[in-house]
Amino acid sequence: MSLGTDRTGGADTTLSFVHRFLPADKTGRPPLLLLHGTGGDENDLVDLGRALSPGSALVSPRGKVLEGGMPRFFRRLAEGVFDEDDVRRRASELADFVTEAREAYGLGAPVAVGFSNGANIAAALMLLRPGVLSGAVLLRAMVPLAKPPVADLAGTPVLLLSGAMDPIVPAENAARLAGMLANAGAVVDHRTLPAGHGLSQADLSLATGWLAKRPG
Ligand code: MLT
Repeated sequence: MSLGTDRTGGADTTLSFVHRFLPADKTGRPPLLLLHGTGGDENDLVDLGRALSPGSALVSPRGKVLEGGMPRFFRRLAEGVFDEDDVRRRASELADFVTEAREAYGLGAPVAVGFSNGANIAAALMLLRPGVLSGAVLLRAMVPLAKPPVADLAGTPVLLLSGAMDPIVPAENAARLAGMLANAGAVVDHRTLPAGHGLSQADLSLATGWLAKRPG
């Protein structure tokens, strides 16, 4: 297929999200759906994706919502207060993009690797459109929807990594998200690290190990 590229280099504009795609160079590793944090873009997590799962195909979309010029995956009303109608709409758009990308690039269902806002949309995607993701690494995620629908995530593996000193995600909120996903049947491994909202070396080691032998 022909790739449309933007003038800032490397981004693909042929599908419903501006994104980057890097093909797999080894078999047996899952494709990763990389979801950046607020103010990031499709380039942000590419190096992280390569480091976490060498050889995996990488699909890295850019969030469509702008907050003061900063890309995000859904609208928020204040820090930690989400526009839940927009969360639902944007999660549905992202689910459709995953289907498009799978067809365009011949991929299996991806494992999401999301950071912050990207982890929150990944959690919403799992709860609203189960089956689109084959698993998720959620880095500093919080509850994206107060009352999500009953989802069937039976056996879907999730690694949730929280920071004990995270000023954005209270411990209670992260624990509630872990409970929501587990109640839907996901196999949740929730660890709280001695870190803030930013990632630490421990995040990278745990996520790399988990991706290499994830359950499910
Ligand atoms: C969000 O808005 O998704 C969370 O507050 C994380 C962030 O982007 O700061």
